[in-house]
Amino acid sequence: MPLKRLSVTGVRNLHPVTLQPSPRINIISGANGSGKTSLLEAIHILGLARSFRSTRLQPVIQHGLDACTVFAEMVLHSGVSCSIGITRSKQADYLIRMDGQTVRSAAQLAETLPLQLINPDSFRLLEGAPKQRRQYLDWGVFHVEHQFLPVWQRLQKSLKQRNSLLRRGRMQRSMLIPWESELIAAGEQVDEFRRAYLSKLKPVFETILARLLPLDDLTLSYYRGWDKDKPLAQVLDDQFERDSQLGYTQSGPQRADLRLRIKGMNAVDILSRGQQKLVVCALKIAQGYLLRELRGSQESVFLVDDLPSELDEQHRRALCSLLEDLECQVFISCVDEQQLRDCWKNDTPLSMFHVEHGRIVQTD
Ligand SMILES: Nc1ncnc2c1ncn2[C@@H]1O[C@H](COP(=O)(O)OP(=O)(O)OP(=O)(O)O)[C@@H](O)[C@H]1O
Ligand SMILES: [Mg+2]
Repeated sequence: MPLKRLSVTGVRNLHPVTLQPSPRINIISGANGSGKTSLLEAIHILGLARSFRSTRLQPVIQHGLDACTVFAEMVLHSGVSCSIGITRSKQADYLIRMDGQTVRSAAQLAETLPLQLINPDSFRLLEGAPKQRRQYLDWGVFHVEHQFLPVWQRLQKSLKQRNSLLRRGRMQRSMLIPWESELIAAGEQVDEFRRAYLSKLKPVFETILARLLPLDDLTLSYYRGWDKDKPLAQVLDDQFERDSQLGYTQSGPQRADLRLRIKGMNAVDILSRGQQKLVVCALKIAQGYLLRELRGSQESVFLVDDLPSELDEQHRRALCSLLEDLECQVFISCVDEQQLRDCWKNDTPLSMFHVEHGRIVQTD
């Protein structure tokens, strides 16, 4: 859902600003260190209550200030406006407001503003730990399956309890049973949701990827986190001794992963960095297309930081055209606006912003 007004105060080097972004393409240009990433970071905080640059929000707050605030008005698909805002002060945790009401959970922000980030670190989705790919997968499931979050929370809780009992050392097997029943019930449901989501995502991903880079041999598959031929109950039972020694649960949906392979080998070991980035872009954009297909409206907001880096002109244009055809709101940054200015069709609503020493000015 597009942001129609965005106010940012106290974020990094940015001067307080209110912008009226285009519902479609927004190009943010400026020299190194001017504040482009900071603007995208502010929108990210609004959608997820956290930064993509630092694990804590404290470094995001402008030096010498006590708090940062990001506020936006957005248009829901019913056409009604809705306001969301988040304040993070140095002393307290964050305060989230939606339509004037205080909201306790950041999940509500995420649900209202499905954000996708593509930045120079994006290739890590392929290279990094399975956790990142699980988060990617769960982002998609969360946005299309409303039952997912409560079930996922039950899974986390039962897993934490089982692990903490395992760490206590010598104990009766029976003590684990109540938590295991919960773990099995929630775990199998999480697995079902993930599997169903991935089966829908796969064909969309393949179509998107074909428009970016022809990699016919690339396969995307799902590993559920435990032996595909055994029920989870049996796996937990079989591995009890070993789990007790290790002090944690070795197998289960907390170990799920997405596997990208080319001719049976890990794609990350074969693809160039630019290619890895394009595969990741295809994965993320595919989620946007699928969300539109399943929810019947344009929901996602894409934050694309420093797009030109490592992509040649042909691939940059292919990527812009995919984002454009998705018809969602995009905030895309670059050092030189010429690199992105003519990548769009004439009738696509486009706004240009220039950032200089933290001051953002709309130029077109
Ligand atoms: N808490 C803070 N308070 C004030 N300024 C900060 C804070 N944190 C970072 N900065 C400064 O904010 C500036 C903007 O950084 P930002 O990463 O947004 O720039 P950028 O335009 O994305 O640059 P690049 O093109 O190099 O990616 C930097 O000069 C940085 O030193
Ligand atoms: Mg930057």
